[in-house]
Amino acid sequence: MFSLRLLWILLPLFLLLKPSFSRGPYALRISCGARNDVHSPPSNALWYKDYAYTGGIPGNATLPSFISPKLKTLRSFPLSEGPENCYNINRVPHGHYSVRIFFGLVAEPSFDNEPLFDVSVEGTLIYSMPSGWSNHDDERAFVEAFIFLKDGTASLCFHSTGHGDPAILAIEILQVDNKAYYFGPSYGQGVILRTDRRLSCGSRDPKFGVDYSADRWGGDRFWNSIQTFGESSDRAISTTNSIKQASKSPNFYPEALYQTALVSSDSQPDLAYTAEVEPNRNYSIWLHFAEIDPSVTAAGQRVFNISINGDIAFGDVDIVGMAGGINSALVLNTTVALSGRTLTITMHPRKGTHAIINAIEIFELVMTASKTLQDEVRTLQKLKSALGLPLRFGWNGDPCVPQQHPWSGVDCQYDRTISKYVIDGLGLDNQGLRGSLPEDISRLHHLQNINLSGNSLHGFIPSSLGTIASLEILDLSYNYFNGSIPESLGQLTALQRLYLNSNSLSGKVPAALGGRLLHRASFNFTDNKGLCGIPGLPTCRTHLSAGAKIGIGLGGCVTFLLLVTCLMCWYKRRQNILRAQRIAARDAPYAKARTHFSRDVQMARHHSHEHARTADENGPSLLS
Ligand SMILES: *[C@@H]1O[C@H](CO)[C@@H](O)[C@H](O)[C@H]1NC(C)=O
Ligand SMILES: *[C@@H]1O[C@H](CO)[C@@H](O)[C@H](O)[C@H]1NC(C)=O
Ligand SMILES: *[C@@H]1O[C@H](CO)[C@@H](O)[C@H](O)[C@H]1NC(C)=O
Ligand SMILES: *[C@@H]1O[C@H](CO)[C@@H](O)[C@H](O)[C@H]1NC(C)=O
Ligand SMILES: *[C@@H]1O[C@H](CO)[C@@H](O)[C@H](O)[C@H]1NC(C)=O
Ligand SMILES: *[C@@H]1O[C@H](CO)[C@@H](O)[C@H](O)[C@H]1NC(C)=O
Ligand SMILES: *[C@@H]1O[C@H](CO)[C@@H](O)[C@H](O)[C@H]1NC(C)=O
Repeated sequence: MFSLRLLWILLPLFLLLKPSFSRGPYALRISCGARNDVHSPPSNALWYKDYAYTGGIPGNATLPSFISPKLKTLRSFPLSEGPENCYNINRVPHGHYSVRIFFGLVAEPSFDNEPLFDVSVEGTLIYSMPSGWSNHDDERAFVEAFIFLKDGTASLCFHSTGHGDPAILAIEILQVDNKAYYFGPSYGQGVILRTDRRLSCGSRDPKFGVDYSADRWGGDRFWNSIQTFGESSDRAISTTNSIKQASKSPNFYPEALYQTALVSSDSQPDLAYTAEVEPNRNYSIWLHFAEIDPSVTAAGQRVFNISINGDIAFGDVDIVGMAGGINSALVLNTTVALSGRTLTITMHPRKGTHAIINAIEIFELVMTASKTLQDEVRTLQKLKSALGLPLRFGWNGDPCVPQQHPWSGVDCQYDRTISKYVIDGLGLDNQGLRGSLPEDISRLHHLQNINLSGNSLHGFIPSSLGTIASLEILDLSYNYFNGSIPESLGQLTALQRLYLNSNSLSGKVPAALGGRLLHRASFNFTDNKGLCGIPGLPTCRTHLSAGAKIGIGLGGCVTFLLLVTCLMCWYKRRQNILRAQRIAARDAPYAKARTHFSRDVQMARHHSHEHARTADENGPSLLS
C-alpha cells in the first residue's frame, strides 16, 4: 500500500524532472588552425579552437565552396611530418555520430593545385578525394559518415597520396539517433554509411539542417538543391502546407524537405535521376515522398514503380495510401550492389500520368576495418619515442589499417582468432635511428622479423627479446649496442638468422645460442668489442662462475684452518720438547722415554690421524 502511494507521488515528480535529463545530442565542432574559439554565421555555431591534432601547421584558409563554414584558418599536414596525420578526439560519449570533415585550400599566392588525399575514420578508409573537388560548390567540400563510436575516442586520419598536403578546415562530430538510417540486419558495428549525396528536389538553394531549423538529432545534414533531372523532363513544384510525419525518429527530416518536389512532365512520364558512382560498391538509397501536388487528392490516383538500374526496387508506390494522406511524408530505403559507374533511379507511373519525388539520399556502405590490437599500438608508440623515429614516419592513427596506408616499417598480419591485426615485422634498417631498444619491445609478441640494422642505436640488447617466441630473424648489426648478449636469446627456438655484427658487444655468446646456431641458423657476431666462446671467435678468458667462486672460497678457508692447526701443533710440540730438554738436563737417564710418551699422548688427544703423522714425521728434525 505504502509503496504504491509513494509511486503515485514520485511518478509525476519523475516526469517533471525527465526533460532536464535529455540534454540533446552531443556536438563537437573544431575550427582547424584556429587559436581561439570562433562563431560562424548564420547560425552562430560555436567552433572550438584547434586541438587533438597529431602535427601539421596552422595556416590561413581559402574557402573552396560557399557551403564551407565561414572560418578563416585551416591546418595542413606537410609530407615531412609523415604520410599519416590525424585528429584523435577523446571523451566522445558512446553513441552514433555524423562525422564531417571540411576540406580547405591554403591561402597563398603561389598555391595552385588542390590537395588530393584519403580520409579514414576509426581506421576505415571512407573516402579518396576526386580531382576537381574544389571546383564545385557542393558536397565535395566535405566528407561525412555515420558511425558508431564505442571506445570514447574518434580517430580521423588523412593519408597523403602524393598530390599535395592534406589541408583541413573544420571537423564536426554530431550525435544522431542510435537507429538513424537503420537499413536492415547488417546495420550497426560492421558498416559505416558514407554520405555520397543528398538532394532536395525542386528546391532553389542548397541548405543545411540549421537553415531548415531542423531537429538537432538529424546531424545538421547538407541538402543540395536540384531543380531538374535534365532535359526538361520534369518541373519543380512547392507548397507552404505543413507536412505531417516529417521530423520524427530516427532520422528527423526537416519538414521543408517535403515542401518541394519534382514532377514528371506530360511529354515524359518517367522521372529518372542518374548519378555517377564508384563501381563495385554497395549503396543505401533513401527516397522521400509527400503528395504536395494539388491535382492528387486521394489514394490510388498516383501509383508508380521505382526501379534502380532497371531492377524494380519498390512496386506500386501509392504515396497517399502509404503515408496516410496528402501532405504526409513517406520514406523508402533500399540497399543495392552496383557494379557499374552509374546509378539510375526511375519512377515509372502505373496509375496517373506523372511521377513525383521530394528528396534523394545516397550512401556508400563501407565495411569497417578490423583494427590493430590496442596493446601493440601502444607499444609501437613507445617504440617510436624510444628509438627516436624521425618525424617523416608519422606513425599516427592505426598501424595496419586502412590497409592501403599502413605505417612504414611495420608489417601486419590479421589474426583470425581475435579478429584484429597484429605486428609481425619491424623493418627500420638504415633510418638514422639514435635511441635505444626498450624492454617493452617484447610486448610485440607476434614479431617474426626485426631488422634495425644500420642505425645508431645504443645501450643493451633487451633481455626480454628472448620471450618473443615466434622471432625468426633478428638483425641488430651496424649499431652501437654494448654489454653482453642476453642469455635469454638462447630460448628463441625459432631463430633462423641472428646478426649482431658491428656493435660494441662483449662477453661470452650464450652457450644455448652457440650450440643451436651452429647447427641450423645463420649468424654473424664479428666486429664487436670482445665477444667470445664459439668457434670463429676468440676463446673466452676463463671467467669464474659463481659456483667456482664459492668452491675456491671454501677451499681457502679449509687451507687456512689447516695452517692454523699445524702451527698450533708445532708450537705445542716445541714447548714439550723444550720442557723435556729441561727435565733431561735435570735427571738424564729417564727423560727420553717420558718425552716420547707424553708426545704420543698429546698427538692422539688433539689431532687427526693425518696431522698426527705429519707432526710425527717432522718430529725428528724438531728434536735434533
Ligand atoms: C594569416 O593572415 C594574417 C592576417 O590576416 C597574417 O597576420 C598571418 O601572418 C597569416 N598567417 C599565415 C600563416 O600566413
Ligand atoms: C529501411 O528499410 C528496411 C527494409 O528494407 C526497414 O526494415 C527499415 O525500417 C527502414 N528504415 C527506416 C529508418 O525506415
Ligand atoms: C556488398 O554486400 C554484399 C552482401 O551483403 C557483400 O557480400 C559484399 O562484400 C559487399 N561489397 C562491398 C564492396 O562492400
Ligand atoms: C511494377 O511493380 C509491380 C509490382 O511489383 C509489377 O507487378 C509490375 O510488373 C511492375 N511494372 C513494371 C512496368 O515494371
Ligand atoms: C636488414 O636490412 C639490411 C639493410 O637494409 C639488409 O642488408 C639485411 O639483409 C637485412 N637483414 C635481414 C636479416 O634480412
Ligand atoms: C653502454 O653504453 C652506455 C652509453 O651508451 C654506457 O652508459 C654504458 O656504461 C655502456 N655499458 C657497458 C657495459 O659498456
Ligand atoms: C659479418 O660481419 C662483418 C662485419 O660486420 C662483415 O664484414 C662480414 O661480411 C659478415 N659476414 C657474413 C658472412 O655476412
